[in-house]
Amino acid sequence: LKVGVIGVPMDLGQNRRGVDMGPSAIRYAGLISRLESLGHEVKDFGDITIERRSEEQVSAGLKNLSQVIHANDLLRQQVESIEEEGYFPLVLGGDHSIAIGTLAGVTKKRKQLGVIWYDAHGDLNTGDTSPSGNIHGMPLAVSLGLGEESLTSIGGFAPKIKPEHIVIVGARSLDDGEKELIKEKGIKIFTMHEIDRLGMTKVMEQAIEHVGAGTDGVHLSLDLDGLDPNDAPGVGTPVLGGISYRESHLAMEMLAEAGILTSTEFVEVNPILDERNKTAEVAVALMGSLFGEKLL
Ligand code: ARG
Ligand code: MN
Ligand code: MN
Ligand code: MN
Repeated sequence: LKVGVIGVPMDLGQNRRGVDMGPSAIRYAGLISRLESLGHEVKDFGDITIERRSEEQVSAGLKNLSQVIHANDLLRQQVESIEEEGYFPLVLGGDHSIAIGTLAGVTKKRKQLGVIWYDAHGDLNTGDTSPSGNIHGMPLAVSLGLGEESLTSIGGFAPKIKPEHIVIVGARSLDDGEKELIKEKGIKIFTMHEIDRLGMTKVMEQAIEHVGAGTDGVHLSLDLDGLDPNDAPGVGTPVLGGISYRESHLAMEMLAEAGILTSTEFVEVNPILDERNKTAEVAVALMGSLFGEKLL
């Protein structure tokens, strides 16, 4: 596989500093050589330039809106050209607001994209329902065409994805508006309850089947806070009771076997909150499994 890596040192979609260092932490943990050792041809497209944080601006309940729009439009263009050059887009975050740009880029060609949202959260807020005003809690809603028009219209079309093509895995913290939206749109969700009850094997079998139906590609958006904070401590919004390191490896291996992914992003790695780069190392280990690593 030809893999195109792009870093997005974005921290403006949330309040905690340090997540902008995520892409370098992931590279430092050996991403490029890990993928190359699996036989992939890897091209590092470098990092997107992010505007500096200025005095906090809130417009329509959204923080740092203009900078988040600008960064995501740049990312969209980069992702489009990475795909045009024949590479599989692998996006490194950065906070989860960057999924807006990634999804805008990959849906230029794929209008029936399936999305696996591996996360403790739904990221289904709009400016009206968000308790925080942080745009990293909104990218899945934005991609569904909901909320702030200047975000939903990035790339010139909306919505990017359809509710029936989404599956959320690992949720254990949802705001009231997000719960309503999940019910209203009938979004498929495997919360921690289902993961405990069914086991990760069945969850991923069903998730893979769900996003494979009627779609023309599948994107994995993996928020490291989907994992338990014991395994991935370097995240800005940790929630107890998460997916284990082992379950996550299994999930990645099952995705590799299914061979359905057409793009991926790993987000919310925050080295300042981390323990000796553990979370970036976990991210790289999971990417190893995702891109075909096997013990024997
Ligand atoms: N639901 C909360 C909010 O809207 C937390 C979102 C956390 N999102 C994330 N990508 N870590 O602020
Ligand atoms: Mn999250
Ligand atoms: Mn369909
Ligand atoms: Mn998230």
